[in-house]
Amino acid sequence: MLIRRAKIQDLDGMVELINEYAQQGLMLSRSKLSLCETLSCFSVVVDNKGEVTPPGSVVGVGGVHILWEDLAEIRSLAISDKTRGKGLGKLLVQHLVEEAEEMGIKRVMALTYQTHFFEKCGFSVVSKESLPHKVWKDCINCSKFPACDEIAVIKELSPV
Ligand SMILES: CC(C)(COP(=O)(O)OP(=O)(O)OC[C@H]1O[C@@H](n2cnc3c(N)ncnc32)[C@H](O)[C@@H]1OP(=O)(O)O)[C@@H](O)C(=O)NCCC(=O)NCCS
Repeated sequence: MLIRRAKIQDLDGMVELINEYAQQGLMLSRSKLSLCETLSCFSVVVDNKGEVTPPGSVVGVGGVHILWEDLAEIRSLAISDKTRGKGLGKLLVQHLVEEAEEMGIKRVMALTYQTHFFEKCGFSVVSKESLPHKVWKDCINCSKFPACDEIAVIKELSPV
């Protein structure tokens, strides 16, 4: 399995993976257009050797979006159910965290139902009220607004 920056050729696989889980209510849906517009924020896990899917298939996706000069958010994180529970989610989060560190970001957060997974990745649960208003900028467009039941997690980074 290979973790790398997302390419245009990955878009359909990314949309499929995210929206399959969105239909189950596990995460927010994303249109192909919105993923296309923010593609440079995204990384993917690719089954480059065809271990469990046809070679080159996208089996994981996740993005790191800068919210403010000291804060980024991990968004649209998903690992295919064919490859879940093998450590790929943790590796992808580490990859996204390293990207944020390389950009000089001091903290990275996520809004999630998967708090135990994020705790395994070194994040801690925090109250949503402790996060800056900037975090909620896009919430107006979300189907869950204004009754968001996701939990906020955050990790302090060591920017390089
Ligand atoms: C959440 C998700 C990304 C985790 O990816 P994964 O590849 O299955 O997770 P990993 O195998 O890397 O697990 C890393 C650690 O977290 C633990 N973990 C993973 N999912 C967990 C869960 N739901 N509850 C508790 N612990 C969990 C694993 O046991 C593992 O622990 P270890 O380091 O002690 O071995 C994946 O299950 C997924 O895509 N879920 C559906 C979509 C979703 O909910 N996305 C999150 C949106 S923010």
